[in-house]
Amino acid sequence: MTTSSAAENRTEDHAGHEHAGHHRAADPAGFFEPASWEERYAGDGSHWSGSPNPQLVAEASALTPGTALDIGCGEGADVIWLARHGWTATGLDFSANGLARAARHAAAAGVGDRVSWQQADARTFTADGPGVDLVTSHYLHPSAGRMPEVIERLARAVAPGGHLLVVGHAPTADHPAPTGAHERAMFRAEELLDAVPEDFAVIVAEQRPRTSVREGRTITMEDSVLLLRREA
Ligand SMILES: C[S@@+](CC[C@H](N)C(=O)[O-])C[C@H]1O[C@@H](n2cnc3c(N)ncnc32)[C@H](O)[C@@H]1O
Repeated sequence: MTTSSAAENRTEDHAGHEHAGHHRAADPAGFFEPASWEERYAGDGSHWSGSPNPQLVAEASALTPGTALDIGCGEGADVIWLARHGWTATGLDFSANGLARAARHAAAAGVGDRVSWQQADARTFTADGPGVDLVTSHYLHPSAGRMPEVIERLARAVAPGGHLLVVGHAPTADHPAPTGAHERAMFRAEELLDAVPEDFAVIVAEQRPRTSVREGRTITMEDSVLLLRREA
């Protein structure tokens, strides 16, 4: 199956891999930190394709729309897709430039009045209020293997009966981690299971292959997909 990804028109993917050559480089200083993302999102252009991520479309299409929170929303393509499909959606990112782009894209898509934005760091984010029906996160990849800890935080933002969908890159032969820092930021779904709170059921924990064309070459990637449902 061939699917498109939000990063398809880039030579850099969501985990920040440059695909020219696969040699192991030195750890990039600050690569996963806010200043680095602010720089990537500076100006008016688009870093990603604007298409929603395929695992979001696959999983959220089966759910009854309600409130949603997209963590690491970047330029907002998934928030826009959620709004277009009846969700009341908020996009959260630590990059002000990314959020500004997301707001512009949402306005251009005609859903600006149905979405909201929040600037926060997922590593320190604390949910308040009654929780939302769907928390999603695609390719957040916090540094130093901090995804399990982030999952515990995101789970607290899910309302009883709601869902948490986490998607990231797993390393594959076609898609290896170029540095040790990238390797620690990538994950397989099963590595996240210890972080699942007791009142959540695991609906999906698997890798799903996805093809992408990079520099004229079709490569096979794997999305790590974790879908949880909180007890009602
Ligand atoms: C690879 S991009 C993915 C963007 C979007 N989810 C998509 O799939 O196109 C990762 C995004 O997560 C944001 N991000 C990374 N670490 C974060 C953190 N600790 N807290 C909040 N946002 C973060 C970055 O600013 C960036 O927008």
